[in-house]
Amino acid sequence: MDSVIDIRGLGLTFERDGRRTEVLRGLDLAIPRGAFVAIVGASGVGKSTLLRVLIGLAKASAGQVSLATRSAARQPVALVFQDSRLLPWRRVVDTVAFGLEGSGLPKAERRARAVEALRIVGLAELASRWPYQLSGGQRQRVSLARALAVEPEVLLMDEPFSALDAISREGLQDELTRIWQQTGKTILFVTHDIEEATYLADRVVVLAGSPGRAVIDRTIDTPRPRRRDDAADAGLIADIRRHLGKVG
Ligand SMILES: Nc1ncnc2c1ncn2[C@@H]1O[C@H](COP(=O)(O)OP(=O)(O)O)[C@@H](O)[C@H]1O
Ligand SMILES: [Mg+2]
Repeated sequence: MDSVIDIRGLGLTFERDGRRTEVLRGLDLAIPRGAFVAIVGASGVGKSTLLRVLIGLAKASAGQVSLATRSAARQPVALVFQDSRLLPWRRVVDTVAFGLEGSGLPKAERRARAVEALRIVGLAELASRWPYQLSGGQRQRVSLARALAVEPEVLLMDEPFSALDAISREGLQDELTRIWQQTGKTILFVTHDIEEATYLADRVVVLAGSPGRAVIDRTIDTPRPRRRDDAADAGLIADIRRHLGKVG
């Protein structure tokens, strides 16, 4: 299998002031190139920590993580957060180009890449706006464009739509599906929303327990384009809820 991410026996323990918190233990996860995988889990189970390990912000205490990149010049992963983290003093296009500073690309090329990323997320016409002139959904699209501009192999998304109102959230979910299909990116999407996970992804991995481990790893083969009114796999949803300790 052509895995773009291969996680084996990942463990992570935080140590502070002599206190140890074991967050992840024995996590195995292989993500094939081009997959759309959702990671679901309750708050505090270690989802963000897992993404931080993948992007190099946290260090594994055990196991191995390998990221297979096609080109040495390319950034393997880019992360989109729950809050858009835009820079108030930069116009949209300059915010998107910001991640390319230090890339060695000439300024004109950085700008061209930023414009192209904004086009992909459908915001080309807002390139010269300031962040305060954008809605919450538009801000998240800018932060998605900023991640796409570095042309990563894998997009890591940490509950990217959970701060949005329901209508914006559904719009962004469909937009992301379209972008995934158009660009062929690999997406690792963290959410605590079971419906969001099963609507978006090809595969759902559930993290549960303390330390967190993968308790469910299932393929979602609902054909695309998907419709929201299609009944999702009720058995799977019930299984996930049971593991998350929810009733019903
Ligand atoms: N830098 C850190 N030092 C100590 N504990 C941490 C640190 N970062 C996260 N944790 C703890 O690790 C656990 C998992 O956190 P996190 O990965 O943010 O969970 P999630 O994203 O699933 O809500 C939590 O108990 C959190 O308090
Ligand atoms: Mg988190």
